[in-house]
Order: sequence, then structure tokens, then C-alpha cells
Amino acid sequence: MTSVYDSARLAEAYAFDRPPVLEQILHTVAPHAGFVIGRAERLPFPAGSFDLITAAGSLNYADFPSALAEIARVLTPDGTFLLYDFSPGRSSAGDDKLERWFASFEQRFPWPPGWEPLDPRELPLAAYGLQLLDFTEVETQLPMDADAYLRYALSETNVENSIATGACGPEEARDWCQTTLEPVFTGGPVTVVISGHVATLARAAESDEQ
Ligand SMILES: C[S@@+](CC[C@H](N)C(=O)[O-])C[C@H]1O[C@@H](n2cnc3c(N)ncnc32)[C@H](O)[C@@H]1O
Repeated sequence: MTSVYDSARLAEAYAFDRPPVLEQILHTVAPHAGFVIGRAERLPFPAGSFDLITAAGSLNYADFPSALAEIARVLTPDGTFLLYDFSPGRSSAGDDKLERWFASFEQRFPWPPGWEPLDPRELPLAAYGLQLLDFTEVETQLPMDADAYLRYALSETNVENSIATGACGPEEARDWCQTTLEPVFTGGPVTVVISGHVATLARAAESDEQ
């Protein structure tokens, strides 16, 4: 199955251009966490391998029934699964210029069809032996200058989708965003408001019934 993330352009954007929201969230809950590369649906680890598993903005792109089953399998009985994500930086503290720009951005570059934000509270967790312990909404305010915001906007999957489907070229996308963002950033950097959430999960208690 091809994915919008099978893209060299998007890989570079993710390496350099995403706003550092998740690092900030991670430092509040798991300062020594590391990262590995693999597919969520088939984790290459034995059962009960990890005290802590995190998934940042990724389960909604995976086949989440398979991914949840795998996470439950490799989590230790007392382990914690942190599922966290953030929404696009579509508004700013102060005025509605960024919000209005973002609406035009979404019209110009529609989101890929079939993609849905994932609400951990609505997942069929019990079916995979998991339970939700806590759900916390997090709001991050990030000062961003025009260049940082432009780079971030170009890293969004709606732009990638337009480029991948041939609806527009990378330069055209950059030019459109750069030109239309100018009035938003005439006063200098803007404090971008980004909402997110952290869900804390664990394995469900084993039933005594055999
Ligand atoms: C919105 S990005 C989030 C990336 C990173 N966690 C971050 O927060 O910056 C979604 C990520 O999900 C990853 N992804 C997509 N499908 C996946 C799958 N089946 N298993 C594991 N990761 C997947 C993509 O490679 C991409 O890096």
C-alpha cells in the first residue's frame, strides 16, 4: 500500500521543518525516550519487551487494529502506552489572520481523502486488551517567523497530497504559501497556537475467569 509518507520531500520536511511540539510534550512525560524505525502493525520485538511505548501522530496512518494488538503484545504487564498528537497550527494568539489564511490553505490544498484524526477515547481498546487511564488536552504556543511557518505548512500532508497527485508542483505550492502568508507576518513573528493531547494507556487487567 502506498502512503503519503513514502515521499523523499516529506521525509526532508519532517527532518527539518516540523514545529517542535512533540519534543516538548515528550520532555514532560519521558525524558530519556528513544526512537526506532519499523511498522506499527508488525513490531519486531518479543512479547512483553517494553515498559513504555509511545506513538506520536502516527497510529491514524497505520492499520490501527493490528497496531493496537501489537502494542498490547510487546507492552509489559505493568507498562504504559502514551498516545499523543497535535492538530495543525491553524490559529495565532492575537488576531484571526492566521486562522483565515489556514482556511484558504485547506481550500487550495485539500486534505487527502480517507484520513481521519484519531480520538483515543473512541478506540475499541478493550478488544485488544488495553485500557485508557488518562486523556489530557495540551495547548502549545510557539512563536514562529514567516520562514519557519512556511516550512511547517509545506510539511503538511495536504500539500504533499496535492504534489503527489500532480495537482500542483512543489515550487508552485511554495510560491502560493509564501505570497499569501506575507500579510499574516507583516508585524514579525506570530505566536502559533497548536492544540494536542496525551492519552495514557495500559494493558487491561487480566480476568480471573478462565
Ligand atoms: C504525522 S507524522 C508524525 C511523525 C513523528 N512522530 C512526529 O511527530 O513528528 C506520521 C508518521 O507516521 C509514520 N507512519 C505511517 N504509517 C505507519 C505505520 N504503518 N507504522 C509506523 N509508522 C507509520 C510515518 O512514517 C510518519 O513519520
